[in-house]
Order: sequence, then structure tokens, then C-alpha cells
Amino acid sequence: MKRIEEPKTPVFVQCLQWVFDPVGYLEKNHHGYPDFFKSQGVGFGNEVVLTSHPQAMQFILSNDRKLFTAPGDTNCILEPMIGANSSIMLDGTNHKKRRQLVMPAFHGDRLRTYGESICQIAQEVMSQVPMGSTFTARKMTQAISLQVIFEVVFGLSTGDRADAIRELLIPMTDQFSSPLTSGLLFFQGFQKDWGAWSPWGRFLRLRNQLDELLYAEIRDRRAKPDPDRTDMLSLLIEARDEDGESLSEQELRDELMTLLLAGHETTATALAWGLYWIHRLPEVKAKLLDELHRAGTLEPIALAQLPYLTAVCQETLRRSPVAMLTFPRKAQEPVEMMGYSFDAGTLFMGCMYLTHQRADLYPNPQEFRPDRFLERKYSPYEFIPFGNGVRRCMGEALALYELKLALATIALNYELKLADQQPEVPRRRGVTLAPARGVRMVMQGVCSQPKALAEPAYG
Ligand code: HEM
Repeated sequence: MKRIEEPKTPVFVQCLQWVFDPVGYLEKNHHGYPDFFKSQGVGFGNEVVLTSHPQAMQFILSNDRKLFTAPGDTNCILEPMIGANSSIMLDGTNHKKRRQLVMPAFHGDRLRTYGESICQIAQEVMSQVPMGSTFTARKMTQAISLQVIFEVVFGLSTGDRADAIRELLIPMTDQFSSPLTSGLLFFQGFQKDWGAWSPWGRFLRLRNQLDELLYAEIRDRRAKPDPDRTDMLSLLIEARDEDGESLSEQELRDELMTLLLAGHETTATALAWGLYWIHRLPEVKAKLLDELHRAGTLEPIALAQLPYLTAVCQETLRRSPVAMLTFPRKAQEPVEMMGYSFDAGTLFMGCMYLTHQRADLYPNPQEFRPDRFLERKYSPYEFIPFGNGVRRCMGEALALYELKLALATIALNYELKLADQQPEVPRRRGVTLAPARGVRMVMQGVCSQPKALAEPAYG
């Protein structure tokens, strides 16, 4: 049995590389050690073993209730934002119970009811871009995804409190929009409140103001329960565990913050990349429009099933992954995998960024070619943008639905072009990757025959 080598680069240098050049760091290590490599930079202060091999990903993630666990305390880098009671910070039975409370809100009929809103929101946001102007696509996609998540999570998107929450949430997430400011999350020594003008001080003040608004909303909603509401906050307020206990205010706040942050940042980035790729490659956009026009007027749920639109979104998530890694999983006993042996207690992280760039799975991985998803079926460990196992992304269904509907709505209704031919490259944004320049675009016009989606047949 083989053992993996210790990294030769000093810990501090690994941390700097991981924060400032995450893609370079991953690619360099993968080149040296293709199956597994040890990192002291990636694991939020812990030593972790990274793998991108689908076989190893499958072994770890399909056993993360038995051989492995998905510990919450290893995700502490996110705690300042989402709090200690977020599902991301829980593990074991508490984590399982919380997922059982939250997950129903993302599935089936509930998701369908959001389809029409997603298309309308995409229209409304894009209609605010003046004709002929140059704009940053990621700002517009963030406005779209924020509005969507507001409706889904709170069941409200207008009103003074909603506006105030939005106005605080955007600067709070933008606080970590560059590699330098993202360093604040990774190097806890910089997490010092030196007043409102210091980066951490500003973050804390924004978060405290936001908390006041979230608690006020929770209290109001608890005081005036409305059985007709189907949003997540209402579901979480109503939810009871088997002992009849409901979630505390603190637990509700932490879960809300998790859903708001995880739910809009990631989808905004994926949509910005989607717009970039279809405008970078006119043949892809032409093929997409052809499919959309041929399909005629469709309900959102049918639109989201179109094969080429689906393939464009899959290829976007493959070619330009938003998340680089799964959360850590911990071996409960000594394990053997692909000829290597690992001690009990070893922490593993799956690296979907590298899996998605494997030439054995995706020939010419740098090429954006949606057809590869029509020609071949990939296993859930070969194409894995949302992770898998016990921590598999809770918002996957919503994210995919929103990505497809918003991309189709914008492609059908607006004539856009890239502002220049300079390629977009991925750059760290908090714990994710986003287009470095945010995708600069020009609004050229509204399509002469804007396509309306059918009224939904459901309530
Ligand atoms: C393109 C969009 C998105 C991507 C790429 C993405 C990716 C991921 C990944 C990779 C994980 C970790 C999975 C693992 O460790 O196995 C995750 C977890 C999570 N995601 Fe997403 N996500 C997206 C959108 C969303 C949305 C829209 C929401 C909610 C509205 C959401 C909520 C969550 C939550 C709550 C977790 C933690 C689950 C747990 O700890 O049990 N995500 N996501």
C-alpha cells in the first residue's frame, strides 16, 4: 500500500497560494500528484487530502454516513457569516434533522411555483440596463439571484425591510469579492475590529445591522403566522422535530443567513459565466436560440427540460466551476483507496474543479462544448458541481432551475454582446471562484419579437 507524500512547500506559502491563486495551486499539485495530494493550505487550518479522482470521490462521498463523517467544526471559516447553528456547522443527527426540515422547501411542486417569478425577475432586472450601455453582467445576475432567493426564502421581495436587507447583504458579500479581502476569512489573525473603517470592523457592523432586520422579520412572522405562506422561513418556523421542539430564533437566523448567502452568490456567478460563454461562442448561442424558438411558448418546467439548454448549463458548471471543493469528510477508521492507505482521522476534500478539467473524462477540457453532455452520460462523481453524500448542496434543484430559466429568458429577450474580446479568467471570491472582471457586456437592444413564457398551469 502506498502512502501520500508530505507537501514540501511551507504551510504559510501554501496558504498564500491557496488564497491568492487557488486555481494555480490546485493545478500545480494535481500535476505532481494526480490521485491524491496533501494540503495544509486548503483545509481551514486542518491538514486535508484532496482528490479529484471520480473513483475516490465515489468511495468517500457514498460512505459519508459510515466509514466517513462530515464534521461541522471543520467549516468554521464560514461561521462569522452564517453562525454556529447553520446546517453547514452541524453534523451527525442534528445535521440530518435540519436537512429534513429544509429540503422539502426545495423540491417538487414548491420549486415549480417559483418558475414564473424567476423569468419575470430576470426580465425586470435586465430591463433596467440602459440601451447602448456597458454593464457588468455579474452585478445584474446578482440582482436577479438575490431577488429570487428573497422570494423563495422569505416569500417577500418588496417592502422597506426587504430593501434594507438587500442593501446590507450586497456590501457584506462584496466585502470578500477580491482575493485580498477574501484573505480576511482565511487568516483569522486579521479578524480584528479596528473601527468602522477597518475591513473586519465594517463586516461586523454590516452583519449586526443585518441580524437586527432578520430577527425583526422572524419575530413578526412568529407573531402573525400565515398558513397560506409556502416560503422557507414560514416552513422553518412551523417545523417541529419528533419531540415537538421548534427552531430557536438563533437557529432560524443562522439558517436564513446560510440560505441567503449560499443561495444567491453561487447562482449569480454561474449565470454570469453562462452569459459569458454563450456570447463568447456565437455558434452556441445560435444553437440555443434555435432550440428555444423551435420549442415555442413553454411553461417554465418544460423549458427547463430542453436538452441543449440543459447541456449549456451543465457545461457552464463544468468549465467554470463556482465551488472548487466539497466540505471535508473525516475517516472514522483506517481506509484503503486506489492502492493508498490512510489513517483514521484523515480529512478528505473532493476537488470538483480538477475533476471537471480531467481530459480522460472531458477531452479538450478548456473547450466550452455543451454537446459533450448530449453525447455521453456522466456519473454523479464525474460531473459533480454540487458535491454529493450527506452534505450535497441543498439548493441544487433551485440553482439549476434558476440558471436555465434566467439564461433562456435573457437570451430570448435581449441582444447582448461582450464589451471586449479579453478572456475572462476565474478569480477567488470568498470561498468560491467567479469571473475576474465580472463579464463586461453591452446592451445592444431588445429582441424584436420578445418571447413570452406561458402562464403556469399550476397555482
Ligand atoms: C450554482 C449554484 C451552486 C453551487 C455550485 C453549489 C455548490 C455547493 C457545494 C459544492 C456544496 C458542498 C457539497 C458537499 O460537501 O458535498 C454545497 C452545499 C450547500 N449548498 Fe450549495 N451550491 C449552489 C447553490 C445553492 C443554493 C441556491 C442554495 C440555497 C438556496 C445552496 C445551499 C447550500 C447549503 C445549505 C449547503 C450545505 C449543505 C449541508 O451542509 O448539508 N446552494 N453547495
